[in-house]
Amino acid sequence: MTPSDQKQFVKFYSGEDIPLELHKVRIVQKLNLVPIERRLEALKEGGFNTFQLSTKDVFLDMLTDSGTNAMSDQQLAAMMQADDAYAGSQSFYRLKKAVNDVLGKSYYLPVHQGRAAENILATAYVNKTSLIPMNYHFTTAMAHITQNGGRIVELLYPEAYVINSSHPFKGNMNIEELEECIIRTGTEHIPFIRMEASTNLIGGQPFSVQNFRDVRAIADKYGIRLVLDASLLGENAYLVKQREEAFKDKTMAEILLTMTGLADIVYFSARKLSSSRGGGICTNDESIYKELEALVPLYEGFLTYGGISIREVEAMAVGLYETLDETMISQSPSFIKYLVNECMKKGIPMITPPGVLGAHVDAMSFCAHIPQTEYPAGALASAFFLISGIRGMERGSISNQRDEEGNETYADMELLRLAVPRRVFTLSQIKYVIDRLAWLFDHRDMIGGLKFVYEPTVLRFFMGKLAPVSDWPEKLMAKFREDFGESL
Ligand code: F0G
Repeated sequence: MTPSDQKQFVKFYSGEDIPLELHKVRIVQKLNLVPIERRLEALKEGGFNTFQLSTKDVFLDMLTDSGTNAMSDQQLAAMMQADDAYAGSQSFYRLKKAVNDVLGKSYYLPVHQGRAAENILATAYVNKTSLIPMNYHFTTAMAHITQNGGRIVELLYPEAYVINSSHPFKGNMNIEELEECIIRTGTEHIPFIRMEASTNLIGGQPFSVQNFRDVRAIADKYGIRLVLDASLLGENAYLVKQREEAFKDKTMAEILLTMTGLADIVYFSARKLSSSRGGGICTNDESIYKELEALVPLYEGFLTYGGISIREVEAMAVGLYETLDETMISQSPSFIKYLVNECMKKGIPMITPPGVLGAHVDAMSFCAHIPQTEYPAGALASAFFLISGIRGMERGSISNQRDEEGNETYADMELLRLAVPRRVFTLSQIKYVIDRLAWLFDHRDMIGGLKFVYEPTVLRFFMGKLAPVSDWPEKLMAKFREDFGESL
């Protein structure tokens, strides 16, 4: 335990360090744990794709933290003072002030969610000759760039792809490769460099402020815009405080402003960053603001709501200030750390060090007998839902898109992501996750592969339907009944 951890983990008399909940539950939602037989039917109805499940069949929804973080009492209270107006709403000015205070940017364009910001940036800056260097892609960020004819290149250090590592910043951009890439490609073809806080698809791994400064220096040297995807910036900043020596005594506010201060454009999904809905693009550069401004009324809504409900605009403003509260921002990473460490003790292959957003199971190793052509991460997500009612998300080859020739592009990592939204689950629920995952790990040889039966061309992981390659789900269900009897 580092001293900073000790604030979030409380030592029990038994000697155990527990991530004690530093909040109380004031509104609850009833959950159902339906029998395994129903869960198998639900999987079949949903084409073995966890996006296609209905929440009435889901016990713990660990699909995502997007729009599922618990809101605070202050956020709910703020929603009641919403100033509903098409133009000039006071709610918008409160949000604009919050963006300036927390992210340090005076020009703010509201959009309905993160990918809408990606659409606007790609529409404004990407064409058929564009190449966007980034530390790692996110599905929607890449889709908008390729829809506009551009390409992406991912420039990470080899450490990023090491499943078990003690490297504190696996999301760091490879500085040497970035410079080589710019020289090779020509600055005229690089409209911007994209840095994603807490690289979502490789296990929620942060980058350091020092690395970001090095990227800034390259951007300055070649006169290229630097764009920061700040959707998971709060957690990235928290891990900077924990892991980067120079920042251990800085406040969350100072770290956030240091990071956003390095970017020309900051965009975000408020569904994550501020535990609300909505999103935005912000900058201190008036010319950038002018370039993007007209696209907001075109695609989103008028400039003072951008497609976001005004109540959510209020929740967003309060939520942004709350990201500065270390107790709040550390809750999810602390639960993730507990979950990962307990799983590792049982030999379950997990991405380490524990990152943010969720715990990531290494499906390539968990299901080493399933070839990538049969989607090990998708198979593991289905098997885990079947035996537990817990809905995770495939973050592997199914989430990848085919190349221009229509060939599969297999993912660097095959992950089952178990999201831990902020302040939603209790520790006994996390213990249930660990227990069922341990049982599945002991019976991993019974999990089989999947094949596509319906494959859309864009963002196939959302709508695609798959089927098991054999009757492995029925056999796994029979084994569950044998071991757990009538238990849910
Ligand atoms: N950037 C990052 C890093 C994200 O994680 C997401 C969404 C987006 C952009 C797009 O934002 O959903 O508001 O349009 N991630 C969600 C997830 C969907 O489950 O990880 P959005």
